[in-house]
Amino acid sequence: MVDQGLRLFAASAPGIEPLLEAEVRALGFSDAAAEPGGVAFTAKDARGIARAHLGIGLAHSIRLRVAEFSATRFDRLERAARAIDWQAYFRREDRFEVRAHARSSRLYHTGAIAERVSEAIEARAGAILERDALHSVYVRVDRDRFTISVDLSGEPLHRRGYRQYTGKAPLREDLARALVLVSGWDRRSRLVDPMAGSGTIVIEAALLAYGLAPGRFRDFAFTRFPVFEDAPLALERARFEERERTEEVPIFASDRDAGAVTHAAENAGRAGLPHPIRFDRAPLSAAPGLADLPDEGALVTNPPYGRRVGAQGSLEPLYRALGVRIAQLPPGFRAALVSADPRLPRLGGSGLESALLTDHGGTKVRFFVRPKG
Ligand SMILES: C[S@@+](CC[C@H](N)C(=O)[O-])C[C@H]1O[C@@H](n2cnc3c(N)ncnc32)[C@H](O)[C@@H]1O
Repeated sequence: MVDQGLRLFAASAPGIEPLLEAEVRALGFSDAAAEPGGVAFTAKDARGIARAHLGIGLAHSIRLRVAEFSATRFDRLERAARAIDWQAYFRREDRFEVRAHARSSRLYHTGAIAERVSEAIEARAGAILERDALHSVYVRVDRDRFTISVDLSGEPLHRRGYRQYTGKAPLREDLARALVLVSGWDRRSRLVDPMAGSGTIVIEAALLAYGLAPGRFRDFAFTRFPVFEDAPLALERARFEERERTEEVPIFASDRDAGAVTHAAENAGRAGLPHPIRFDRAPLSAAPGLADLPDEGALVTNPPYGRRVGAQGSLEPLYRALGVRIAQLPPGFRAALVSADPRLPRLGGSGLESALLTDHGGTKVRFFVRPKG
């Protein structure tokens, strides 16, 4: 298995696959290729798995493909599932669950498919099937071709560990990172979020600016797998630390809600940044980060987007004011925002254009960006 490399798949929110492909390539995985729902790539060894887990910030999980085969009958599936060396991944008494998806295949009953694979895992490794277990195994069958993968990450990767307080409508960390990347910000000039909530956008921006590995605060499921127990996670962590940048980058966050500002500052404190982010309680109209603007920088934000009927009307003045502010930014200033509403971000002559459509906890949301001046 190791000779041909470890075949990995980083699963992401829809629409951000091209950004994720670039992120995976930048970590040195030159065969990274976007597919619907994520990016496939190869690691030479366990060190690559550690590097991917520390450095990837746009995926929610990374899976290892452990088998690929064709089967049109259950006895063939059973044999193939029992041929997998499950003891490499699971120990006796480990808890696991199996998720199966089938499409255009002779074997289509996902419950029966998952049962056969679960029996093989129990028989070979003595692990225990349990709902919502830490370890997940994925079975995909498409036109009779099976792919079996083991989740390496455990807790979803967007749970970095710094965010203990969330506001009313927090943006997921992977999408906040994607929004900062889509904005085209240079990671050196001023970055402003005038509706910062729990601070996710500015904290993700700071991780990018200072070159801090998004996974550095946490542990991963693969470190408990017998085959990867010697994975050099600490060594890889140290390599990322060597490349951290310490030159201060001006990052401004504000929100009209005092509680949000307090909690955002506490979240940022847990992220271990080399320089603090500036947090202020202020309405959009008086956001300190939008005063005395330099020629270059970026405004990146996640305004409220009211899903309730009638909420759009009450949000119009806010979006109009934001649109006017964006239109007045210096030509070299970038802007990006995320909203579930296709119309509101264009108010006030913002000049914003839709750049990407994705999904945030079951709601379709769009990223809007200011075209490069
Ligand atoms: C969708 S939330 C932002 C969530 C944030 N991205 C996070 O991850 O926690 C929108 C935020 O805008 C703030 N807000 C709404 N109207 C505002 C205004 N006029 N001025 C400043 N902040 C405002 C709200 O208090 C709320 O925290």
